[in-house]
Amino acid sequence: MKSPTANLAIPLLFFSLLFSFSWLTLAETHHYDNFLQCLTLHSGNASSFSKLIYAQNNSSYSSVLDFSIRNARFSTPTTPEPLVIVTPTHVSHIQTTIKCSRIHDMQIRIRSGGHDYEGLSYVSQVPFVIIDLINLRSIDVDAENKTAWIQAGATIGELYYRIAEKSSTLAFPAGVCPTVGVGGHFGGGGYGMMMRKFGLAADQIIDAHLVDVDGRLLDRNSMGADLFWAIRGGGAASFGVIVSWKVKLVSVPSTVTVFTVNRTLEENGTMLVHKWQSVAPKIHEDLYLRLFLKAVNSSQQEGKRTTQASFTSLFLGRIDQLLVLMQESFPELGIVKEDCTEMSWIQSILYFADIPQSESLDILLNRTGTAVFFKGKSDYVKESIPETALEGLWQRFYEEEPEAVQLIFSPYGGIMDEIPESETPYPHRAGNLFNIHYVVVWEEEDASASQKHISYMRRLYRYMEPYVSKSPRSAYMNYRDLDLGSNNKGRYTSYRQASKWGLKYFNNNFNRLIHVKRMVDPQNFFRHEQSIPSLLLG
Ligand SMILES: Cc1cc2nc3c(=O)[nH]c(=O)nc-3n(C[C@H](O)[C@H](O)[C@H](O)COP(=O)(O)OP(=O)(O)OC[C@H]3O[C@@H](n4cnc5c(N)ncnc54)[C@H](O)[C@@H]3O)c2cc1C
Ligand SMILES: *[C@@H]1O[C@H](CO)[C@@H](O)[C@H](O)[C@H]1NC(C)=O
Ligand SMILES: *[C@@H]1O[C@H](CO)[C@@H](O)[C@H](O)[C@H]1NC(C)=O
Ligand SMILES: *[C@@H]1O[C@H](CO)[C@@H](O)[C@H](O)[C@H]1NC(C)=O
Ligand SMILES: *[C@@H]1O[C@H](CO)[C@@H](O)[C@H](O)[C@H]1NC(C)=O
Ligand SMILES: *[C@@H]1O[C@H](CO)[C@@H](O)[C@H](O)[C@H]1NC(C)=O
Ligand SMILES: *[C@@H]1O[C@H](CO)[C@@H](O)[C@H](O)[C@H]1NC(C)=O
Ligand SMILES: *[C@@H]1O[C@H](CO)[C@@H](O)[C@H](O)[C@H]1NC(C)=O
Ligand SMILES: *[C@@H]1O[C@H](CO)[C@@H](O)[C@H](O)[C@H]1NC(C)=O
Repeated sequence: MKSPTANLAIPLLFFSLLFSFSWLTLAETHHYDNFLQCLTLHSGNASSFSKLIYAQNNSSYSSVLDFSIRNARFSTPTTPEPLVIVTPTHVSHIQTTIKCSRIHDMQIRIRSGGHDYEGLSYVSQVPFVIIDLINLRSIDVDAENKTAWIQAGATIGELYYRIAEKSSTLAFPAGVCPTVGVGGHFGGGGYGMMMRKFGLAADQIIDAHLVDVDGRLLDRNSMGADLFWAIRGGGAASFGVIVSWKVKLVSVPSTVTVFTVNRTLEENGTMLVHKWQSVAPKIHEDLYLRLFLKAVNSSQQEGKRTTQASFTSLFLGRIDQLLVLMQESFPELGIVKEDCTEMSWIQSILYFADIPQSESLDILLNRTGTAVFFKGKSDYVKESIPETALEGLWQRFYEEEPEAVQLIFSPYGGIMDEIPESETPYPHRAGNLFNIHYVVVWEEEDASASQKHISYMRRLYRYMEPYVSKSPRSAYMNYRDLDLGSNNKGRYTSYRQASKWGLKYFNNNFNRLIHVKRMVDPQNFFRHEQSIPSLLLG
């Protein structure tokens, strides 16, 4: 629970300034009242909009704020909080909020699913308002035309559920965790177990509705090709508020096959991980062979630790064909029929989300998640990591508690090799063997614990440097990492400053993103620590 700060009675204001974190000076209090008035007055449907606005003194404010926070690092007593949260049910509410924020110089943060790794959808260092799209989450699946309109506040779990409701052979290629929001996920790329067959979520977008800095509601035609390009992987929050996406759905067989097998170091784990690097990116694109790595307590010897490699797979076909492919390409893994299970695509969504198969599919509609303390990073690998380097990695796992650190290797290849680097802002295509996702999680709430685990993660990242992409050392924008650099605190930032992180996320597409930004938002209204800059001061 956070302290209620902005009670605007003057004695309380002084109290809050003295004893808790607050942005409000007296001048700002006035300013903030004006902002609130603006919101309620300028709305075309003022009375209904005022019921969607949560000021800090509202008894529901904290629960609305906390509901979509997934990283507990950004939910502490010292985390800056928004002056206001608005939860639009109508485009006009978004337009009004943008208008009033410009008049009263408030920064906005846009939140869909709240999974941002650095909390950028709900934390800012200057006075700000959150536009939380939680009420805009309808999904309209057109099974006949194999398309869907999805409002930005929907989660991918809701999307998968609505598709399965209409068809058992339609699907969508996006992430694994059902509570991820489509607003951030599609805008930054978005991948899951079908990436090698169909590409990213962003690759399926065929139209979008966006509210721009002037409050105009634009679609694919009216926004023009450049802006439509930028929002499909360049991080939509630099360009406007996405209201909805239209996507192509993909066809899958009515029966797919899954398996997970675990191999420890005593079971030839190092050799298998090494071999995986040359198999998984090249094998048939219907087969996605993902790899999870972590330290575990040894089951054989009390007090001993080992590394566990967990091979987790989706095959768009049946067991027999899968066994043939595995026997041809990866016999060392020793996959047998008993390891495999046939099921529908929607059941495979539960499987990969670690939800028991006995659960009803309705669980995909449950948006309630838990916030954990974590720090994540990412890398792209272009050449196989040598066995000796893998062995060094296992040693580094043992510096933290078993299971606290996890690496996920997600293979590329397949259609990812065929989509040109400049097709969307997401540039990590041909030439990549796999992506590495690093995460360390912890439970201690104190700041020194956070520092300790974050330092550990930085050391691990340094260790990996020789084995991953270089010049730039690429990273995935959806695994946002402020260690890579961030913009200046003021309105404008320099190219030199922004290119530190910008080239890592976007490689050769960064300059085109800046060009689009200068066209559509030259005053840099839509900004955050890693938003595309509009002005280059050298
Ligand atoms: C538990 C977990 C599992 C994950 N699994 C995967 C995975 O399998 N595959 C994968 O690719 N990624 C995965 N991710 C990363 C995820 O794709 C990103 O964190 C994504 O940006 C989250 O989108 P969101 O809407 O939930 O987040 P938010 O925090 O709401 O938003 C993230 C960013 O997008 C902006 N944004 C959000 N909505 C809008 C909008 N409507 N208009 C404009 N800008 C908007 C925000 O301002 C912020 O900058 C995972 C993250 C977590 C925490
Ligand atoms: C105004 O609000 C009412 C009540 O919430 C709603 O039924 C109506 O559709 C709204 N009209 C507009 C134009 O938003
Ligand atoms: C809190 O805000 C909500 C949404 O605007 C409103 O419906 C509710 O009446 C407010 N509660 C109080 C106590 O002001
Ligand atoms: C909260 O603050 C607003 C703006 O100052 C004020 O209008 C409102 O009456 C306050 N509500 C409560 C419940 O104190
Ligand atoms: C499919 O698309 C066509 C052409 O846009 C449209 O006329 C038709 O109504 C759509 N089908 C459904 C079920 O909406
Ligand atoms: C693999 O290990 C994980 C724990 O890391 C466990 O939950 C899972 O059940 C194991 N799977 C199999 C098939 O043994
Ligand atoms: C490890 O690999 C060797 C050589 O390929 C093989 O003989 C042995 O059976 C494997 N061990 C396990 C536990 O799979
Ligand atoms: C590993 O074993 C230690 C005791 O040896 C125990 O304290 C710890 O909880 C175990 N960790 C896990 C993840 O099982
Ligand atoms: C939704 O998920 C949360 C967290 O996992 C859980 O605590 C809650 O019971 C679930 N709610 C329902 C209705 O299943």
